[in-house]
Amino acid sequence: MKKNLPIGIFDSGIGGLTVYKVLKETFPYEKFIYLGDTARVPYGIKSHETIIQYSVQNGNFLLKKGVKMLVVACNTSSAHAISHLADEFPVPVIGVIKSGVKMACKITKNKRIGVIGTPSTIDSKAYQRGIKEILPDANVFSKACPLFVPLVEEGWIHHKITREVAEIYLSDLKKKNIDTLILGCTHYPLLKDVIGEIMGNDVKLVSSGESIREDLINLMELLDLKSEDKEIKEDLFYVTDSVDRFKSVGEIFLNGKIKNIYHIDLKVTFEFKEE
Ligand code: DGL
Repeated sequence: MKKNLPIGIFDSGIGGLTVYKVLKETFPYEKFIYLGDTARVPYGIKSHETIIQYSVQNGNFLLKKGVKMLVVACNTSSAHAISHLADEFPVPVIGVIKSGVKMACKITKNKRIGVIGTPSTIDSKAYQRGIKEILPDANVFSKACPLFVPLVEEGWIHHKITREVAEIYLSDLKKKNIDTLILGCTHYPLLKDVIGEIMGNDVKLVSSGESIREDLINLMELLDLKSEDKEIKEDLFYVTDSVDRFKSVGEIFLNGKIKNIYHIDLKVTFEFKEE
């Protein structure tokens, strides 16, 4: 039965596990197949064309595994490739940008919203456009924070260097009187404490996992895609680079053990066509 098929979820690497974690807690009876393109991470400094190409390859791999829907956990892929994937793929495709936008627009009172993300996500202006569609008079302030990804991957979550870097990145945003800050990157929820301390209690943080959770609940309901199985499934994890590194860093992300990690090679060719 279609509703008992797995849910495919991909990210440029390990960070998408922050999204997976929230979704697994929300849907314990769903089976997830996670793909982390760890050999080609980071996507956040790559071009629009390359990000689309990689995202399509990731999606194709998961489709071949027979998934019933595709969750794009990566903000950078969602910013650049979501409409492409939604048009091309025969299953529902859901990304993190739209959900983050919706949640931020719901939370903000003063309509002053900050967005932090990778350079490619910020350059795409996808969050900005989405917010303006819902709240045309909102003020959106964006900042690329490229060093956050390697700092998190290094496990330097509470390191003083990370705090210093965060203070530098966030100093302009702090002056903008924002009341909501979108953590527009899979890795940033791990820095929630430090970002929250710097921005202060009056600024609400929106992370991808929590925002997409709402949308996925609604989408599964609407399309009648919720699995009827009532036993907790073991999920599968595929990576394009080292299994060992995914396991060791991934277990920090999940704060728990990861089983069933397999290495794969994504040799699907794809030609980018200009629209
Ligand atoms: N997963 C990416 C994102 O959410 C961060 C890492 C990268 O640059 O690939 O934007």
